[in-house]
Amino acid sequence: MAVRKIIRMGHPVLRTVARPLAPDEIGSDELHRLVADMIDTLHDYGGIGLAAPQVAEPIRLAIVELPGGPSRYGELPRVPLTAFVNPEIEVLDPATAGYWEGCLSVPGLRGFVARPQHIRVRALDLSGEPIEMVFEGFPATVFQHEFVHLDGKLYVDRMTDSSKLVFDEEFERYILPVEAEPSA
Ligand code: NI
Repeated sequence: MAVRKIIRMGHPVLRTVARPLAPDEIGSDELHRLVADMIDTLHDYGGIGLAAPQVAEPIRLAIVELPGGPSRYGELPRVPLTAFVNPEIEVLDPATAGYWEGCLSVPGLRGFVARPQHIRVRALDLSGEPIEMVFEGFPATVFQHEFVHLDGKLYVDRMTDSSKLVFDEEFERYILPVEAEPSA
């Protein structure tokens, strides 16, 4: 296992549509090694999700780990560390809500993005078995953020107001104190 380098916005792999994994690749040692590296990388950089293209592997694979518990978005469900192979999202309710998103491939910045808040995720696990999960609220945003990496997109592409793209430091200083007020 090893920590891999996370590539940053501007690297062409982040703008490549990733290819699906074939059935014979899903149980392979190579894929398990890659996932182990991605887990080490996620934990080393600190984050809640990582898509394979972010370590320069243009394949349809992402890992997500949500610690759960209280947050500024209220009480969040825990999502144990899970690998999602060839994931797909079905929007169950198109009503959106916005969050300040960050991305390990866009370090130092945050942007406000509105996304649907009720989705179904279908994917395969590392044994090739189907996974089906339904998420509401912030976790729905997390999965959409991770999985659009597989289509060569970044959260900045989903922004509708570029005045809400800010540096982390300024976010903490000017925006967080206001956003900390409870809101819908
Ligand atoms: Ni990201």
